[in-house]
Amino acid sequence: MPFPEQRPRRLRVNENIRRLVRENRLAVDNLVYPVFVTHGSGLAEPIDSMPGIYRYSIDRLLGELEEVVKLKIPCILPFGVPAEKDEAGSEAYAENGIIQQTLRAVKREYPNLTVITDLCLCEYTSHGHCGIIQDDYVMNDLTLDLLAKTAVSHASAGADIIAPSDMMDGRVGAIRAALDRNGYNNMPIMAYSAKYCSAFYGPFREAADSAPKFGDRKSYQMDPANSDEALREVWLDIEEGADIVMVKPALAYMDIIRRVKDEFNCPVAAYNVSGEYSMVKAAAQNGWVEERRIVMEILTGIKRAGADIVITYHAKDAARWINDEK
Ligand code: PBG
Repeated sequence: MPFPEQRPRRLRVNENIRRLVRENRLAVDNLVYPVFVTHGSGLAEPIDSMPGIYRYSIDRLLGELEEVVKLKIPCILPFGVPAEKDEAGSEAYAENGIIQQTLRAVKREYPNLTVITDLCLCEYTSHGHCGIIQDDYVMNDLTLDLLAKTAVSHASAGADIIAPSDMMDGRVGAIRAALDRNGYNNMPIMAYSAKYCSAFYGPFREAADSAPKFGDRKSYQMDPANSDEALREVWLDIEEGADIVMVKPALAYMDIIRRVKDEFNCPVAAYNVSGEYSMVKAAAQNGWVEERRIVMEILTGIKRAGADIVITYHAKDAARWINDEK
């Protein structure tokens, strides 16, 4: 039935009708807010490439989280910047590591705020790679033991969800087994399943001081040209016990988000990463784009692509804007 019987504009004529037929809505419920934490006290160090984002000491983070809780953002994702780095990334699984201390403090102060812990070694290793190095190669199976140990240490410090982001083969299975052995069989795993080797992580590496000191991450993170491989990675992670799977970054990978959602019907997270945030902030600061509209368009687009969960540095602004509209 073509024109003139059909006129799609009829359903765009005013805001109430548009509301009635709107297919996707970003909710505060969908948001996860990543934060950077470091040792010390009274610190809020601005990250130059990420305007509005800071590296906090734990005391200052607790202050910052008051607003996050007030905005009803359900989850945070803390990243630790350790005091010392070594070959084996030992502060990642130390009893008093930065994330372990953060978990105890946050759970004491805000027991109802859900804390997802990023599980990786790259912020903690002196060489900046996500695992143990031998002959300039990241050793898969040796790294699994350390990841499993780190997962248990996060769980015992109070983590609510464990999110492995290292891209070692078999890590979800190794972590699941270690958690179960230690009585954490109810601990959900949100796996960074389709994590691409991306230039969009640049600002994060400044924030977390985690750039590799030699080479790159191409032998473990995925080739941006691949799509079928993402489905195999997701399938393996689900088989190994992942509860939520993630696609990262988000914007250049909307097709992957959609394929994963269609194929697996499981909860899908998408990470709107540091470089995606920085590009928007830079353009907005120049007055080249309208920040509020562009952020809501991007985040709603990620949701429309198929993500249930959107991890984003824009979370506080987005929550404010969503709450405003009500
Ligand atoms: C740790 C990790 C990274 C990010 C999240 N977890 C960095 C990387 O893989 O180099 C990037 C997040 C972002 O860019 O916002 N492996």
